[in-house]
Amino acid sequence: MRHLLSTADLSRDDALLILDTAEQLSQVSGRSIKKLPTLRGRTVVNLFFEDSTRTRISFEAAAKRLSADVINFSAKGSSVSKGESLKDTALTLQAMGADAVVVRHGASGAPHRLANWVDGSVVNAGDGTHEHPTQALLDAFTMRRRLGDLEGRRVSIVGDVLHSRVARSNVHLLTTLGAEVTLVAPPTLLPVAMGEWPCEVSYDFDAVLPKSDVVMMLRVQHERMNASYFPSAREYSRRYGLDPERLGRMPDGAIVMHPGPMNRGMEIAAEVADSGRSTIVEQVTNGVTVRMAVLYLLLSGSEPAIGGNQ
Ligand code: NCD
Repeated sequence: MRHLLSTADLSRDDALLILDTAEQLSQVSGRSIKKLPTLRGRTVVNLFFEDSTRTRISFEAAAKRLSADVINFSAKGSSVSKGESLKDTALTLQAMGADAVVVRHGASGAPHRLANWVDGSVVNAGDGTHEHPTQALLDAFTMRRRLGDLEGRRVSIVGDVLHSRVARSNVHLLTTLGAEVTLVAPPTLLPVAMGEWPCEVSYDFDAVLPKSDVVMMLRVQHERMNASYFPSAREYSRRYGLDPERLGRMPDGAIVMHPGPMNRGMEIAAEVADSGRSTIVEQVTNGVTVRMAVLYLLLSGSEPAIGGNQ
């Protein structure tokens, strides 16, 4: 594997290798000294053209825990605001010897283009409404930790599917891992070409709820909406929000996930987000470990993940 551009490209073996490597690396996150020498002398560039809190920080922490040199680049305050193209930015990174480029971009497909212009590995950290593969991997990792093997597990992904790269990446990855995925959303927030997606679709959250092992709530992405997709925030919450009453109707042991950032009180009630069933904080912790596994496998896959010259 040279790049990580989408979960649709991952075989079951690829996905399991990443998750199992993350499991090994998670031992390091529990230590007081959270650092391995594995990527010493390698350079990882974080190239963020869209806003991000947790994904950018998470990749930075992951690269640093593996001792890589990290260069953070955000479009604001760079020559991108002077109109420099993605290609010229890529050539600059190339000239500086980037071994891996972690890229977030508002245009779907931008990481694929970048992969043609640089010699190093490209990791997609979210491209438009297309994919966000490391988010899906950290979600799968979190589910495996809480629920065990994903084979036959029923995962409902609820909300603004139309604008969600998280939903798309999860549908591919989770079905590859044997889970059964149902997307739940109002018809206006579902993509048109859903026919090819390997999952079920429902407009009725209450019908799906009692049959879900995992309920993954999605943020309503106001910044990508140029029209009105539902009558009012209140109406949206009433039909598609996860409140304490709905939480009570989930099966015993079922978990609640959200990739963040949350609109508390809209798609998820604050009490639900902070409840014992919520894995939201664990997802953030696991994100670092999973991204360590991805960087490790892309940049030094032949050496042992931990052990050796520590
Ligand atoms: C997601 C994203 O940026 O796609 N957030 C994240 O990476 N944790 C989801 C979102 O913005 O709603």
